[in-house]
Amino acid sequence: MLPYMFKYISANWTTLSTSDHGPYWQSLRKGVQGFAMNPSSISSQTLSQEKEAIAMTQKIQEQAAVNGGIVHPIDNIRHNTIRVVGRLCFGPDFNNETFVVGIDPFIYDIINIAALARFADAFPFTRYIPGLRGPFRKVAEIRDGIVSLVEPEITRYQSSKSPCTTCYLHFLLSNGYTMETIIFILFEMFVLSVDSTSTATTWALAFLIRNSEIQHKLFKEVSGGDEKRERVTVDQVSKMPYLQAVVSEVFRMKPIAPLAIPHKTVNDTTLTGLKIDKGTAVIINIYAVLRDPKVWDEPERFMPERFLNENALSDRMAMERSFIPFGAGRRICVGMDLGKLQVGLTLANLINSFEWLAADGDGPDMTDDFTIILRMKEPLVARIKARTNLGASLF
Ligand code: HEM
Repeated sequence: MLPYMFKYISANWTTLSTSDHGPYWQSLRKGVQGFAMNPSSISSQTLSQEKEAIAMTQKIQEQAAVNGGIVHPIDNIRHNTIRVVGRLCFGPDFNNETFVVGIDPFIYDIINIAALARFADAFPFTRYIPGLRGPFRKVAEIRDGIVSLVEPEITRYQSSKSPCTTCYLHFLLSNGYTMETIIFILFEMFVLSVDSTSTATTWALAFLIRNSEIQHKLFKEVSGGDEKRERVTVDQVSKMPYLQAVVSEVFRMKPIAPLAIPHKTVNDTTLTGLKIDKGTAVIINIYAVLRDPKVWDEPERFMPERFLNENALSDRMAMERSFIPFGAGRRICVGMDLGKLQVGLTLANLINSFEWLAADGDGPDMTDDFTIILRMKEPLVARIKARTNLGASLF
């Protein structure tokens, strides 16, 4: 079960990830797959995604220039995902920086207070203790803030002379969902995409700073060897096996949602002989599956090569079955392809543009901060050096 507090930001459990399995969930899931996550909707924004990846490297370079080479890249990465998901939700003409900058802290705060929310669930009486009502008040404030940002975007869409008919909002408005439900279904898309993709990208950079040979090997691939690319495109990303292996290894070592989203049994069932009643909450320990020593050789070691198909077929099949950073089954992450693409494209451009080094000492702190997302305990701070392959046009 999700924390009780989430009731306030899920229009009373009517969003995709918070609704129970059944016809309501099924029709929403079909809607998101057919509209926001439709491969043609995603590929239609390739150009904008590539331009934004380049603009992001420029902003990071500017930060480095005034900070003696030191950067905190996470905010730039988060904002890029908000822009991508904004276009899939509201249409390709979505271009509202006030929305991008305004929604980001709400997403951040909601995930932060999830830990407190679990505490309030364990001890429900805390909801009524005046001194402990703070988190509930905060959720109410965030809720109002979300409405004040998302509602005007919906109004803008409704008053447009040629509203987009392939975006998620078109599906939601055409299918009779209430305004409150639409607002929180849209907000959920940002909550589930922004932290997951930006955190995975910063974990990747942290691993690459700590493993300079792997970073060098990746740079050779993304820069195209002698070709000296100025930028990496969406099309190139899917043809880079080492990049894909690095991204998979990051997802394995730091699964962003280590306990997935809580599930519930829809029938009475048994699991390895244990009887489980219908309606029982089931938490899946993705983290443990991804570090199972029976499947993964040296599971604590960052080793992208394990994904390069050089192992025996039986080992590869065991790894494939156990590789579940996006969950599995009917509730598998609906944004999996977009998530992989966004992390791959961002990482490829960041490695192509800069050499990533430790800001001080041995390198980034790899300690986890687990709320419902596996964030870095200390957000990434790094030193960058612009690569010499960059043309003057870039900076
Ligand atoms: C690195 C990227 C991502 C990771 C690692 C990730 C991981 C996950 C996981 C583990 C789940 C729970 C699956 C389960 O309970 O079995 C999930 C669900 C979900 N994710 Fe993602 N996710 C990512 C990116 C995205 C993106 C980009 C979006 C949308 C734009 C998204 C939207 C969703 C939604 C809507 C669900 C709920 C699906 C349902 O209940 O039917 N995710 N994700």
